[in-house]
Amino acid sequence: MRGGNGGTAHASSNGGGSRATQRTALSERLLTRVMDWQNGRQLKILPYGRALPDPLAKRDYTLYAHVPFCERLCPYCSFNRYPFQEDHARRYFRTLREEMRIVADQGFDFSSLYIGGGTPTILLDELCATIDLAGELFAISEVSCETNPNHLRAPYLEALAPRVKRLSVGVQSFDQDLLLRMERYGMCGSSAKMVASIQEAAATVDLLNVDLIFNFPSQTEAMLRRDLALLKESGCQQATAYPLMAPAAVARTLAKSVGRVDYRRERRFYDLISEELSDTFEPASAWTFSRISEVLVDEYIVDHEEYVGVGSGAFSFLGGVLYVQTFSLRDYRAAVTQGRGLIASHRAFSPRDRMRYRMLMGLFGLRLDKRRFREDFGISVSRALPVETAFLRASGALATDTADEATLTAGGRYLLVAMMREFFLGVDQVRKQARAAVDDDELAELWRPQHLTVNDVAACRATPATLTAETVAANAGDAASPVATLR
Ligand SMILES: C[S@@+](CC[C@H](N)C(=O)[O-])C[C@H]1O[C@@H](n2cnc3c(N)ncnc32)[C@H](O)[C@@H]1O
Ligand code: SF4
Repeated sequence: MRGGNGGTAHASSNGGGSRATQRTALSERLLTRVMDWQNGRQLKILPYGRALPDPLAKRDYTLYAHVPFCERLCPYCSFNRYPFQEDHARRYFRTLREEMRIVADQGFDFSSLYIGGGTPTILLDELCATIDLAGELFAISEVSCETNPNHLRAPYLEALAPRVKRLSVGVQSFDQDLLLRMERYGMCGSSAKMVASIQEAAATVDLLNVDLIFNFPSQTEAMLRRDLALLKESGCQQATAYPLMAPAAVARTLAKSVGRVDYRRERRFYDLISEELSDTFEPASAWTFSRISEVLVDEYIVDHEEYVGVGSGAFSFLGGVLYVQTFSLRDYRAAVTQGRGLIASHRAFSPRDRMRYRMLMGLFGLRLDKRRFREDFGISVSRALPVETAFLRASGALATDTADEATLTAGGRYLLVAMMREFFLGVDQVRKQARAAVDDDELAELWRPQHLTVNDVAACRATPATLTAETVAANAGDAASPVATLR
């Protein structure tokens, strides 16, 4: 059991395998513990209350826009998202566009825009107006956007095809039982229906990415093989396979819906994915696979280290500082309309943290450019990060390790998946702090579609997707962890 995370398990043995596999398993356990400890220690955010710093000349920044509304909230998801209410969402999109204007007035320019959520396609007309405005304000040449399977329909695809280069759809699994447990079957429908929608979307947009999650507690190898076969059949140009992560914020709802996550199986499933996809896809990052011959368009953090986030709950990373916008939609509107884009909180990273972040992102993207590292930080990777370098070498993670670059072995790719899982769990610690600032009255109003009252919110700050009268009653007496399962 990992400390402070009731939704996961970790064992003292991975149950055999080759020496290389055992070595990776040991390394994975070690890094998980170290990163888990660091997450608790490092990622504290502090109040900020100012606008973002001005852009530096000739820097290539990415623009990220967050849309925190979903038709239904999934029990495993700890992103900033609220049940959809049209009036809130329309007001929110207007504020988002206003914030984009503020960022443009500040002198920022962007060549790429990534719109994530939540469900950005929740209001198609507002989304299109937002993309169009970004095109007017900035020199945007590439737009990526997330969506859900029920939006892969003609009106959406027709509107998005000319605007969006990479559309990413969260399938998670094609398995009916898993989708029922995830409370997504009603939205996604049968596997045949999803495959047909993906085929249509893949033929319409430039690049369609499908997100899968693997290592669900009740998932068998046969279920995963079927998911991968359907993925290939779907014709998508790219696939991202996330290991199921159990952030503390949703550990309880996750355990109740899909079960308790066991990281011991992660490596086996990851190997199976790499093997099954190898005839059709090639690795584009540690957990992204591009159909062979497709142009790589990857997640925004891999290519662009510095980014500006607009929207409630959005992160910006500039000059080694992480800026976190408020999770309160009310405070967000006030910060934009009255405060001209004030940012709620921040966290400055030390030079060493920044070098480790560069190493993580470089290797996650399959190649660490050591020459650029030296140029940017004035020191070589091995001198700056001797422990991390020794760890990767001893783990057999590095395929090439020259003065100019480091690349990964297959086992190394899995280690990076485990590192990113821990990194995201660390990011979740940041989200947890940002959520704690949203008051109960606002939450009750935001969660109204889930039939929550302010008393329920105060009694049990649980994820509304699975919050029923029964869970409210069961959780109300849990005074020890009043916020552990909230938001
Ligand atoms: C935050 S969602 C936003 C896009 C869209 N609403 C959707 O459901 O796909 C983006 C992706 O994050 C991944 N994700 C969310 N929570 C996760 C978790 N606990 N573990 C692993 N992946 C997760 C899912 O694969 C999901 O497709
Ligand atoms: S995974 Fe579910 S809750 Fe999370 S953003 Fe996507 S639809 Fe919303």
